[in-house]
Amino acid sequence: RFGSPTDGIGRCPPTVSVSAARIVPNVISFQTHFQARDDDIILASKPKSGTTWLKALVFSIVNRTRYTPSNTPLLASNPHQLVPFIEFTLFADVLQKNSAVKVPDLSGIPSPRLFSTHIPYSSLPESVKDSKCRIMYICRNPLDVIVSSWHFGTQDHPDRARSVWTNMEEYVDKFCNGEEGFGPFWDHVLAYLKVSLEKPEKVLFLKYEDMKEETIFHVKRIAEFIGFPFSEDEEIRGVVKEISDLCSLSSLKDLEVNKNGKFMPNFENKSYFRKGEVGDWVNHLSLSMAERVSKVSEEKLKGSGLTFKMSS
Ligand code: A3P
Repeated sequence: RFGSPTDGIGRCPPTVSVSAARIVPNVISFQTHFQARDDDIILASKPKSGTTWLKALVFSIVNRTRYTPSNTPLLASNPHQLVPFIEFTLFADVLQKNSAVKVPDLSGIPSPRLFSTHIPYSSLPESVKDSKCRIMYICRNPLDVIVSSWHFGTQDHPDRARSVWTNMEEYVDKFCNGEEGFGPFWDHVLAYLKVSLEKPEKVLFLKYEDMKEETIFHVKRIAEFIGFPFSEDEEIRGVVKEISDLCSLSSLKDLEVNKNGKFMPNFENKSYFRKGEVGDWVNHLSLSMAERVSKVSEEKLKGSGLTFKMSS
């Protein structure tokens, strides 16, 4: 069944296959051809967990001596253009009409290269796992992930969504059964958590809710992890706060590029910025839906030490 821990994204049932199947060749090509560099920085997540926010932050942290908030490329580009998805963007359409495989040449990208992916840890290329490249993983409580995914799928891509889910109840059901693009939520999170505990220098494990609560602390933590720590002088000058403010939901959502632009033909930039709240699920899920997810969550997370904050 698609989404079992060992499946990666290799198999998809018809119900969720439409977009997932399209990227399988991309993922296989990524697994086969991607050569990680020791100084690569890879952001990993399940969709709707705060990927866009993390991209904006990491881009701003790494490039803070090149740009200020008044001339940062974030003003003209969506964070997904600045930190590209490997499977959707860089290895997009690798399978040519004549069945040849087109492999992108990423060697010209200056270090540190910033990439992102939604694929499970087990499906990452060996060169990513074996090199010293660093991975930052962001996760979010499953109830808010469900609601965020629902809005992303239904409001912004109604045709695609209608072909996949008929209603919220059905979506919750599939989520709980692990019938999800990029594998079941809990297995995805736990696999990255495990590596972060075993090799803290390899994977930094972040929670959306913690980042909302203590943004400055986490911006500094991220900067240290990727080898770009803030100096005392920068802290005194307020650079950390400046980056946090620049990358806040309200700031990014308000930019013209994110109000009207598209970063891929079918993806409007604005669909990546909605409410950004912890606990919005109470407005969208019935008690029985929430209980069902919480029960699965409790079973899956048992013994892992991982908990999620469900409300602000
Ligand atoms: P909501 O739909 O709950 O509002 P992803 O980036 O992984 O696709 O996740 C999207 C979710 O992150 C959306 O959640 C979106 O509003 C929220 N988000 C986007 N940018 C953010 C930011 N700068 N700060 C906080 N949350 C953000």
